[in-house]
Amino acid sequence: MWKCRDADRQRVETIEGLSPNGALHPIQQAFIKEEGMQCGYCVPGMIMTTVAFLRRNSTPTRDQIVEALNGNICRCCGYGNLLKAVERAARSIKEAQ
Ligand code: FES
Repeated sequence: MWKCRDADRQRVETIEGLSPNGALHPIQQAFIKEEGMQCGYCVPGMIMTTVAFLRRNSTPTRDQIVEALNGNICRCCGYGNLLKAVERAARSIKEAQ
């Protein structure tokens, strides 16, 4: 069980922090381009999961992406597009480096 004290003195990153100057983060842009849309609760979760995942693995396979997003349990719609969005984001970030 998660407790507030688990975050004590830890850095907490939110979706709002991805674009402090109003410019969308490459991952947000990829989600828009691939229409990786879900509800207002799920999209931020998927994007923040993707941020953390691509920091650990910048060249993921499709199976690794599926595994990484597995903790976000909603499957209401568009899961295939979410996978494409993560692949696009990985390519975009790599090209920008
Ligand atoms: S898209 Fe968010 S609950 Fe299904």
